[in-house]
Amino acid sequence: MPGYEMNYLALAARDVEAACRFLGDSLGLARRDVPLEGRNIPFFGVGKSAVALFEPDDPYLEEPRFAGVHHMALETDDPAATAAKHGLTVTDEGVGPDGKKFVTVEPKGTVGIRTRFIEPLEIPSVDSLAYKIDHLGIATDDNDATVRVFTDNLGCPIDSTQTDVEIRHVTESFISDKYGAIYHSRPPEILGGLRDVFINIGDCELELLMDYDPDLTPKDQLGEEKGNTKGDQSAIAKFVARRGPGLAHVAFATRDIDAILPKLADDGWRMIDLEGRPGGRGSLIGFVHPSNFGGGLLMHFVEPQVDGGFAAKDFG
Ligand SMILES: [Fe+2]
Repeated sequence: MPGYEMNYLALAARDVEAACRFLGDSLGLARRDVPLEGRNIPFFGVGKSAVALFEPDDPYLEEPRFAGVHHMALETDDPAATAAKHGLTVTDEGVGPDGKKFVTVEPKGTVGIRTRFIEPLEIPSVDSLAYKIDHLGIATDDNDATVRVFTDNLGCPIDSTQTDVEIRHVTESFISDKYGAIYHSRPPEILGGLRDVFINIGDCELELLMDYDPDLTPKDQLGEEKGNTKGDQSAIAKFVARRGPGLAHVAFATRDIDAILPKLADDGWRMIDLEGRPGGRGSLIGFVHPSNFGGGLLMHFVEPQVDGGFAAKDFG
């Protein structure tokens, strides 16, 4: 496998206990409490990787600390040598979870995506409602620069690229009781959208998300609406404006999105989507509301495309 495997993904949650119940009880992921400097950190195995839950002010997490996806840790036998090989500046090194050596690389060198290299840390996973991390959503303002780091330098292959736009079609009708009907369609108008690049990292991907055209949607016209492409564009543009480019959300792969979203609502979790809607790469997606975990931590589900068609529905 070219490039690197993701060993774990560090999530910072204001309500770690709720996030543990979500991942462990509702999704059925296997939990392993891993020792770190005298305390235990809950890790949940998912596919070939794992997610780890931290309080936002945990000393293992470097500044700036906030709720959300904090860093990803790529697996290598020699973290320091790996960073040096790729010309990445190390800002911190030490002994992390389970006594594994790690290095933290300067975020500027990875276009804001907080990245560590760590010795292999074993977290077992079981088959569950979320069978792997599908992707990490990355808010970027320069997809090309990000590709230069992760593909050209680190050797992680590109899976695909995609452009998502929301288009408004307006048709006027002129209907007379004597002269009949005339229909006039105006040219389609692009309201906004995103440019995406998917880069393989082991059994999951980085999904680079860049504003389709910042001039098309000035900052003061970004909407609050959720659950559509314009809403996704607004969320990414606001993230970049507030925090700069970096890790924005995590998505888990599931086999039946129209079953899992209502099940999670039945379990008492607040959901943005209750049924799958079109997402990247012909998939269906559905979001969990970040308020469940004290705010800031955004997760969604993906039912990947199968057999060259939309996963479970034909949207035409
Ligand atoms: Fe996503």
